[in-house]
Amino acid sequence: MEADAPALIVAIEQSALGAAIRQSTWVYAAANIGHILGLATFAGSVAVLDLRLLGIFGATRPMDVLVPARRAAVLAFFVMLLTGSILFIADASHVALNPVFQIKAALIVLALGNAALLGRLAMREADYMPAHVPFSARVRLAAGLSIAVWLTVAAAGRLIAYV
Ligand code: HEM
Repeated sequence: MEADAPALIVAIEQSALGAAIRQSTWVYAAANIGHILGLATFAGSVAVLDLRLLGIFGATRPMDVLVPARRAAVLAFFVMLLTGSILFIADASHVALNPVFQIKAALIVLALGNAALLGRLAMREADYMPAHVPFSARVRLAAGLSIAVWLTVAAAGRLIAYV
């Protein structure tokens, strides 16, 4: 336990739930595997979504791709939130003070803000849009930013263990 962590974080780590996760032989491992499987699904669906916004797979009607890809991305994000929370609670005081985790958390907030804005703009443009029509420059810019930020979040997640 890190003594300089905020009291709330220490309380989370020392809670009955935190102790149960640490004492179990399989909960932490299962959460870790779930986090990676969530990441695989999330990265795949976000890639399809953002690449379609950038004009790749342009022979498809945007809504036919965007709607199912967004649904899969939201579901996978909740899997990552749940499994990531289990990983966090087990070792909260160390993880919370880790600068890479702090960067990762800030980037997740940034990427979610971008996704909320992008989602609105893109869905408005995509409504009844046929195949082979490009999205506006600002939607394409936000889609490129989305790919870059989510990849950085994934890299930061992997780096936490080494810093
Ligand atoms: C949604 C909230 C999330 C929380 C609370 C969370 C939390 C965590 C925690 C605590 C760890 C373990 C760090 C350690 O002690 O080594 C971790 C690992 C990781 N996270 Fe997340 N995470 C979240 C979302 C994400 C997202 C959105 C991505 C990718 C886009 C991601 C990618 C990773 C990766 C690649 C690892 C390393 C797994 C490994 O090395 O086995 N996480 N996460």
